[in-house]
Amino acid sequence: MDGNGRWAKTKGLPRIAGHRVGAETLKTIVETCLDLELECLTVYAFSTENWKRPAKEIEALMELLVEYIDQELDELKQNGIKIKTIGNLSQLPLVAQLKVKKAEKETEQNQKLLLQIALNYGGRKEILDAVNRITQEVAAGRIAAGTINDSLFAQYLYTAGIPEPDLLIRTAGELRLSNFLLWQSAYTEFWFTDVFWPDFTAQHLYQAIYDYQYRQRRFGGLK
Ligand code: FPP
Repeated sequence: MDGNGRWAKTKGLPRIAGHRVGAETLKTIVETCLDLELECLTVYAFSTENWKRPAKEIEALMELLVEYIDQELDELKQNGIKIKTIGNLSQLPLVAQLKVKKAEKETEQNQKLLLQIALNYGGRKEILDAVNRITQEVAAGRIAAGTINDSLFAQYLYTAGIPEPDLLIRTAGELRLSNFLLWQSAYTEFWFTDVFWPDFTAQHLYQAIYDYQYRQRRFGGLK
Protein backbone atom coordinates (compact mmCIF):
# COMPACT_ATOMS: atom_id res chain seq x y z
CA MET A 1 0.00 0.00 0.00
CA ASP A 2 2.72 2.37 -1.11
CA GLY A 3 2.69 6.12 -1.60
CA ASN A 4 0.78 7.33 1.45
CA GLY A 5 3.61 9.64 2.51
CA ARG A 6 4.10 11.12 -0.95
CA TRP A 7 0.35 11.57 -1.42
CA ALA A 8 0.25 13.58 1.83
CA LYS A 9 3.26 15.66 0.77
CA THR A 10 1.62 16.69 -2.51
CA LYS A 11 -1.26 18.04 -0.40
CA GLY A 12 0.94 19.73 2.20
CA LEU A 13 -0.33 17.32 4.87
CA PRO A 14 1.58 15.28 7.47
CA ARG A 15 2.51 11.73 6.39
CA ILE A 16 0.04 10.18 8.80
CA ALA A 17 -2.82 11.89 6.97
CA GLY A 18 -1.76 9.83 3.96
CA HIS A 19 -1.84 6.63 5.99
CA ARG A 20 -5.28 7.57 7.27
CA VAL A 21 -6.67 7.97 3.74
CA GLY A 22 -4.76 4.78 2.86
CA ALA A 23 -6.78 2.92 5.48
CA GLU A 24 -9.97 4.22 3.79
CA THR A 25 -8.67 2.93 0.46
CA LEU A 26 -8.15 -0.45 2.09
CA LYS A 27 -11.84 -0.52 3.08
CA THR A 28 -12.90 0.15 -0.52
CA ILE A 29 -10.55 -2.46 -1.94
CA VAL A 30 -11.67 -5.10 0.55
CA GLU A 31 -15.30 -4.45 -0.48
CA THR A 32 -14.34 -4.67 -4.14
CA CYS A 33 -12.54 -7.98 -3.62
CA LEU A 34 -15.64 -9.26 -1.86
CA ASP A 35 -17.86 -8.17 -4.78
CA LEU A 36 -15.49 -9.87 -7.21
CA GLU A 37 -15.60 -13.03 -5.08
CA LEU A 38 -11.83 -13.17 -4.82
CA GLU A 39 -10.47 -15.84 -2.52
CA CYS A 40 -7.66 -13.94 -0.86
CA LEU A 41 -6.29 -10.40 -0.53
CA THR A 42 -2.92 -9.87 1.15
CA VAL A 43 -1.90 -6.34 2.09
CA TYR A 44 1.54 -5.22 3.19
CA ALA A 45 0.80 -2.97 6.16
CA PHE A 46 4.10 -2.96 8.06
CA SER A 47 7.42 -4.54 7.14
CA THR A 48 10.27 -5.73 9.34
CA GLU A 49 12.19 -2.75 7.92
CA ASN A 50 9.49 -0.17 8.76
CA TRP A 51 10.84 0.02 12.35
CA LYS A 52 13.48 2.36 10.88
CA ARG A 53 10.79 5.06 10.60
CA PRO A 54 10.35 7.81 13.22
CA ALA A 55 8.70 6.54 16.43
CA LYS A 56 5.81 8.98 15.94
CA GLU A 57 4.90 7.52 12.55
CA ILE A 58 5.17 3.93 13.83
CA GLU A 59 2.91 4.80 16.76
CA ALA A 60 0.38 6.41 14.45
CA LEU A 61 0.37 3.36 12.15
CA MET A 62 -0.27 1.05 15.10
CA GLU A 63 -3.11 3.32 16.24
CA LEU A 64 -4.60 3.21 12.76
CA LEU A 65 -4.50 -0.58 12.80
CA VAL A 66 -6.36 -0.65 16.12
CA GLU A 67 -8.85 1.93 14.86
CA TYR A 68 -9.40 -0.04 11.64
CA ILE A 69 -10.26 -3.19 13.59
CA ASP A 70 -12.48 -1.28 16.04
CA GLN A 71 -14.43 0.32 13.21
CA GLU A 72 -14.56 -2.56 10.76
CA LEU A 73 -14.70 -5.80 12.73
CA ASP A 74 -18.50 -6.07 12.88
CA GLU A 75 -18.87 -5.48 9.17
CA LEU A 76 -15.99 -7.79 8.31
CA LYS A 77 -17.67 -10.48 10.39
CA GLN A 78 -21.06 -9.94 8.74
CA ASN A 79 -19.49 -10.05 5.30
CA GLY A 80 -17.82 -13.41 5.88
CA ILE A 81 -14.28 -12.04 5.82
CA LYS A 82 -11.60 -13.98 7.61
CA ILE A 83 -8.72 -11.94 9.02
CA LYS A 84 -5.31 -13.47 9.36
CA THR A 85 -2.00 -11.79 9.96
CA ILE A 86 1.40 -12.87 8.76
CA GLY A 87 4.56 -11.64 10.49
CA ASN A 88 5.87 -11.40 14.00
CA LEU A 89 3.12 -9.92 16.15
CA SER A 90 5.05 -10.14 19.44
CA GLN A 91 6.99 -6.92 18.74
CA LEU A 92 3.81 -4.89 18.23
CA PRO A 93 2.32 -2.80 21.06
CA LEU A 94 0.22 -5.03 23.33
CA VAL A 95 -3.03 -3.27 22.45
CA ALA A 96 -2.44 -3.93 18.75
CA GLN A 97 -1.57 -7.57 19.41
CA LEU A 98 -4.76 -8.09 21.41
CA LYS A 99 -6.95 -6.40 18.78
CA VAL A 100 -5.45 -8.44 15.98
CA LYS A 101 -5.83 -11.69 17.91
CA LYS A 102 -9.45 -10.84 18.71
CA ALA A 103 -10.16 -10.10 15.04
CA GLU A 104 -8.50 -13.36 13.97
CA LYS A 105 -10.41 -15.37 16.56
CA GLU A 106 -13.81 -13.82 15.82
CA THR A 107 -13.47 -14.29 12.06
CA GLU A 108 -11.74 -17.67 11.95
CA GLN A 109 -14.85 -19.52 10.76
CA ASN A 110 -15.52 -17.08 7.91
CA GLN A 111 -15.09 -18.42 4.42
CA LYS A 112 -15.77 -15.72 1.86
CA LEU A 113 -12.63 -13.61 1.53
CA LEU A 114 -9.38 -14.15 3.38
CA LEU A 115 -7.88 -10.78 4.30
CA GLN A 116 -4.26 -11.45 5.07
CA ILE A 117 -2.50 -8.52 6.73
CA ALA A 118 1.28 -8.56 6.65
CA LEU A 119 2.35 -6.95 9.94
CA ASN A 120 5.96 -6.79 10.98
CA TYR A 121 6.43 -9.08 8.02
CA GLY A 122 9.58 -9.78 6.04
CA GLY A 123 9.95 -12.46 3.37
CA ARG A 124 13.51 -13.32 4.39
CA LYS A 125 12.52 -13.62 8.04
CA GLU A 126 9.64 -15.90 7.04
CA ILE A 127 12.00 -18.15 5.06
CA LEU A 128 14.56 -18.22 7.89
CA ASP A 129 11.83 -19.07 10.43
CA ALA A 130 10.79 -21.97 8.18
CA VAL A 131 14.39 -23.16 7.84
CA ASN A 132 14.88 -23.05 11.59
CA ARG A 133 11.70 -24.96 12.28
CA ILE A 134 12.50 -27.58 9.63
CA THR A 135 16.06 -28.10 10.91
CA GLN A 136 14.63 -28.69 14.38
CA GLU A 137 12.35 -31.37 12.91
CA VAL A 138 15.32 -32.93 11.13
CA ALA A 139 17.37 -32.91 14.33
CA ALA A 140 14.47 -34.58 16.18
CA GLY A 141 14.30 -37.24 13.47
CA ARG A 142 10.79 -36.30 12.36
CA ILE A 143 11.91 -35.25 8.87
CA ALA A 144 14.64 -37.13 7.01
CA ALA A 145 17.55 -34.94 5.88
CA GLY A 146 17.62 -34.47 2.14
CA THR A 147 13.87 -34.95 1.65
CA ILE A 148 12.75 -31.31 1.89
CA ASN A 149 10.85 -30.27 -1.23
CA ASP A 150 8.74 -27.27 -2.31
CA SER A 151 5.48 -28.45 -0.82
CA LEU A 152 6.99 -29.46 2.51
CA PHE A 153 8.85 -26.15 2.75
CA ALA A 154 5.68 -24.17 2.01
CA GLN A 155 3.97 -25.87 4.97
CA TYR A 156 6.44 -24.12 7.28
CA LEU A 157 5.78 -20.62 5.91
CA TYR A 158 3.38 -18.20 7.62
CA THR A 159 1.10 -18.71 4.60
CA ALA A 160 0.87 -22.50 5.00
CA GLY A 161 -2.26 -23.81 3.29
CA ILE A 162 -2.95 -20.56 1.43
CA PRO A 163 -2.59 -20.46 -2.36
CA GLU A 164 0.32 -18.55 -3.87
CA PRO A 165 -0.68 -15.09 -5.13
CA ASP A 166 -1.80 -14.92 -8.77
CA LEU A 167 -1.43 -11.15 -9.00
CA LEU A 168 0.72 -8.68 -7.10
CA ILE A 169 -0.06 -4.98 -7.35
CA ARG A 170 2.49 -2.37 -6.33
CA THR A 171 1.46 1.26 -6.21
CA ALA A 172 3.35 4.57 -6.21
CA GLY A 173 5.80 3.83 -9.01
CA GLU A 174 8.10 1.51 -7.05
CA LEU A 175 9.40 -1.39 -9.13
CA ARG A 176 10.60 -3.82 -6.51
CA LEU A 177 9.35 -6.51 -4.16
CA SER A 178 10.68 -5.01 -0.90
CA ASN A 179 10.87 -8.33 0.95
CA PHE A 180 7.23 -9.23 0.26
CA LEU A 181 6.19 -12.91 -0.16
CA LEU A 182 9.58 -13.83 -1.64
CA TRP A 183 8.97 -17.57 -1.81
CA GLN A 184 5.29 -17.38 -2.73
CA SER A 185 5.65 -14.92 -5.62
CA ALA A 186 7.95 -17.12 -7.74
CA TYR A 187 5.31 -17.27 -10.52
CA THR A 188 3.09 -14.35 -9.52
CA GLU A 189 2.08 -11.83 -12.19
CA PHE A 190 3.16 -8.26 -11.31
CA TRP A 191 1.21 -5.10 -12.02
CA PHE A 192 2.74 -1.71 -11.35
CA THR A 193 1.14 1.70 -11.25
CA ASP A 194 2.33 5.23 -10.46
CA VAL A 195 -0.93 5.88 -8.56
CA PHE A 196 -0.38 6.54 -4.85
CA TRP A 197 -2.27 4.11 -2.59
CA PRO A 198 -4.69 6.77 -1.22
CA ASP A 199 -5.76 7.47 -4.83
CA PHE A 200 -6.12 3.79 -5.72
CA THR A 201 -9.73 2.95 -6.56
CA ALA A 202 -11.87 -0.04 -7.51
CA GLN A 203 -11.35 1.03 -11.15
CA HIS A 204 -7.59 0.56 -10.79
CA LEU A 205 -8.16 -2.90 -9.34
CA TYR A 206 -10.48 -3.80 -12.24
CA GLN A 207 -7.82 -2.60 -14.69
CA ALA A 208 -5.14 -4.72 -12.99
CA ILE A 209 -7.36 -7.80 -13.10
CA TYR A 210 -8.35 -7.10 -16.70
CA ASP A 211 -4.67 -6.90 -17.70
CA TYR A 212 -3.94 -10.03 -15.69
CA GLN A 213 -6.53 -11.92 -17.71
CA TYR A 214 -4.46 -11.30 -20.84
CA ARG A 215 -1.24 -12.61 -19.30
CA GLN A 216 -0.03 -16.02 -20.44
CA ARG A 217 1.03 -18.01 -17.41
CA ARG A 218 3.36 -20.78 -18.45
CA PHE A 219 5.04 -21.57 -15.13
CA GLY A 220 8.24 -22.29 -17.01
CA GLY A 221 6.50 -24.58 -19.50
CA LEU A 222 5.24 -23.93 -23.03
CA LYS A 223 1.85 -22.54 -24.02
C1 FPP B 1 3.83 2.62 2.63
O1 FPP B 1 3.69 3.95 2.13
C2 FPP B 1 2.76 2.38 3.57
C3 FPP B 1 2.93 1.90 4.83
C4 FPP B 1 4.25 1.56 5.41
C5 FPP B 1 1.79 1.71 5.74
C6 FPP B 1 0.53 1.21 5.14
C7 FPP B 1 -0.52 1.34 6.15
C8 FPP B 1 -1.78 1.74 5.94
C9 FPP B 1 -2.39 1.99 4.62
C10 FPP B 1 -2.60 1.96 7.16
C11 FPP B 1 -3.76 1.08 7.27
C12 FPP B 1 -3.40 -0.32 7.51
C13 FPP B 1 -4.22 -1.14 8.16
C14 FPP B 1 -3.95 -2.59 8.17
C15 FPP B 1 -5.38 -0.62 8.83
P1 FPP B 1 4.78 5.02 2.50
O2 FPP B 1 4.41 5.67 3.76
O3 FPP B 1 6.12 4.37 2.50
O4 FPP B 1 4.65 6.04 1.35
P2 FPP B 1 5.84 6.87 0.70
O5 FPP B 1 6.73 5.86 0.01
O6 FPP B 1 5.13 7.77 -0.25
O7 FPP B 1 6.55 7.60 1.80
